[in-house]
Amino acid sequence: MTKEKMGSQKLWGGRFGEGTAASVEAFTASIHYDCRLYQYDIAGSKAHAAMLAANGVLSREELQAITEGLTAIEAEISAGTFQFRRELEDIHMNIEKALVERIGPAGAKLHSGRSRNDQIALDFKLYLRDQCDEVGSRLREIRRAFVLLARKYQGRIMPGYTHLQRAQPVLIAHHMLAYYEMFGRDLDRIIDCRKRLNLSPLGSAALAGTGLPIDREQVAETLGFAGVTANSMDSCGDRDFAIEFTSCCMMIQLHLSRLSEELVLWSSQEFDFVSISDQFCTGSSIMPQKKNPDIPELIRGKSGRVVGSLITLITVMKGLPLTYNRDLQEDKEPVFDAVDTVTACLAIMAELLGNLSFKTDRMFAATQKGCMTATDLADYLVLKNVPFRDAHGIVGRAVAYCLERGCELAELNLSELQGFSEVIGKDVFEVLSVEGSVNSRISKGGTGEERVEEALLAAEKQLGIG
Ligand code: ARG
Repeated sequence: MTKEKMGSQKLWGGRFGEGTAASVEAFTASIHYDCRLYQYDIAGSKAHAAMLAANGVLSREELQAITEGLTAIEAEISAGTFQFRRELEDIHMNIEKALVERIGPAGAKLHSGRSRNDQIALDFKLYLRDQCDEVGSRLREIRRAFVLLARKYQGRIMPGYTHLQRAQPVLIAHHMLAYYEMFGRDLDRIIDCRKRLNLSPLGSAALAGTGLPIDREQVAETLGFAGVTANSMDSCGDRDFAIEFTSCCMMIQLHLSRLSEELVLWSSQEFDFVSISDQFCTGSSIMPQKKNPDIPELIRGKSGRVVGSLITLITVMKGLPLTYNRDLQEDKEPVFDAVDTVTACLAIMAELLGNLSFKTDRMFAATQKGCMTATDLADYLVLKNVPFRDAHGIVGRAVAYCLERGCELAELNLSELQGFSEVIGKDVFEVLSVEGSVNSRISKGGTGEERVEEALLAAEKQLGIG
């Protein structure tokens, strides 16, 4: 048997007497999805090679051949002409083998002082660092859409809900800025996640570090990392960064889903608060009159996949002994899917919001039913020295009276109102109007117009609008 036949064609084939079974190659390969990491793999290899040359492990000529070879391979992959080979398992092996075939022995020196275990951790971190930036800019985009809506409808009133029951009148702008805050926290989390993942694992090698003369800091610096990880064993088995990132995605998707739910409700004939542009709706194949809010529905539905991705990752990690285990190859697909889903949903939602119009008359009209200023009446009594619990009871009786008559609190006359409490005076009618109600709520973070205007100006300033 020739040496070639015995060892199979694998880069790790030396100790093997037989080639890998085709079924095993098919089962273990990840190249069909980790090919997505090629640019990061190549950037990492170039930085590693430059460091090896600086430390005398590679000659200048070898470094040049490696660098040029990797550049050519990258161009081929980008152009779609590179032949990925499943029997080479993953992106690392495909690129390394192509390099060796292209430049010969120098290529075979590239893997000195590293392992695929630190290499994949590096690639994945580089990829996720970029994705943090991508998701971050989509978050800025959607926040901007909320601020534009808030400005457009500033001063217009809608019902605010608890338990999906009309509760108290609020400004539309206040409602929009609630989402601005939610997506702001998402942005903070992504920025924080990026900070924590931005340490290079390369040079941790298989698990224990290496005896070869390497300079981990140099590689880290070349690749724009803030520093290097502290423990080689931790570095080869750590996927906290992937879990953290996917958890950020999950939270974003939850926020998108809540927003979607509101848009579905608001665009129903029952609410009829918004009109979603025709461009962002679809029709029914059987009911000619239908205009369906498919985009928010799909976004709401896609929450399942993002939450699922997070659960997948957590489950993969649970119970793994240190350090690298092949289980870790299962970490990439859920993350890729979460990235694709969240970025697509953020982008389309921002577009939809830019084409959304509120039916402000309908929204205001909805505030005129349901005794929405009942709390204001109770607060009025409190200011007249009635204990809040007593005030609550008094107003409750007034509401029951209105319900019986099918009228609103603001429609009662003074003597009817005084029948519930003699401290009520003429000035009560100010607090019974929804405008009066909204504008009284000037506590910090409240819906009073001046407070909302402050919040809006701050948001515009933060985003550089206006
Ligand atoms: N394809 C592998 C993964 O995604 C790369 C690391 C493989 N390391 C190993 N020792 N087999 O996890």
